[in-house]
Amino acid sequence: MKAIIPAAGLGTRFLPVTRAVPKEMLPIGAKPALELIVDEAREAGADEIEIVISPGKELVRRYFEGAKGVSFAYQREQKGLGHAVLQAAEFVRDEKGPVLILLGDALVAGCNAAAEMVAVSRARGGASVIGCERVPREKTGRYGILEPVDGTMDGRCFKVETLVEKPRPEEAPSDIAVAGRYLLDPAVFRYLADQTAGVGGEIQLTDAIRRMLAERALYGCIYPGRRQDIGNPDGYFKALEAFRNA
Ligand code: G1P
Repeated sequence: MKAIIPAAGLGTRFLPVTRAVPKEMLPIGAKPALELIVDEAREAGADEIEIVISPGKELVRRYFEGAKGVSFAYQREQKGLGHAVLQAAEFVRDEKGPVLILLGDALVAGCNAAAEMVAVSRARGGASVIGCERVPREKTGRYGILEPVDGTMDGRCFKVETLVEKPRPEEAPSDIAVAGRYLLDPAVFRYLADQTAGVGGEIQLTDAIRRMLAERALYGCIYPGRRQDIGNPDGYFKALEAFRNA
């Protein structure tokens, strides 16, 4: 299985330290945060991992250079998450099975979220799965939000009717948010290739996944762990605490 870790963001919510150190390289104990994500991907069964970085984040490349099965791609313009993932198109070429995507600034404590996605997908014939969490209604505008198909909630998992990036609370179809882990059919790359800019003028992964829904089944699954957004100091402190107690 292949895994993609987008880690190309500029770290503007975590200045000034990110002028010197990419946020993904900040330590969680003795390891950079990104290494915990690489470990998660490997434990979930990924044997080839491509990390998408931007020029200026060479520290990431230097740290992982020589690591088995790790390669790099560059996102040279900040055009959004969908565009960052698209930079790994060559890496997934000819891939038949689903591909893991783990956001480089989202750490999950308390479970291996990627492994959860893999298990859920296998139980559903290799279908695409999005890792989710419930969020407060007033915060839907920060996330991709999913609409479950009525009556499909089975434990923590459900079939996805549709999904929308950063809806206002009054327009959000639920309080179930996209939470940093995806296992996607490689067909999503066909949609990413001609995806137009969406919310914030950015090429959104959420928009390409929604278009893919017309041809492929998609499930959402609320994973049992807690996501920590290490893209800002507050989330980073929380991550330190969560992993110290893990
Ligand atoms: C991205 C995704 C969004 C998701 C979020 C957290 O947003 O676009 O759908 O809910 O990560 O995983 P960002 O935090 O980059 O604005």
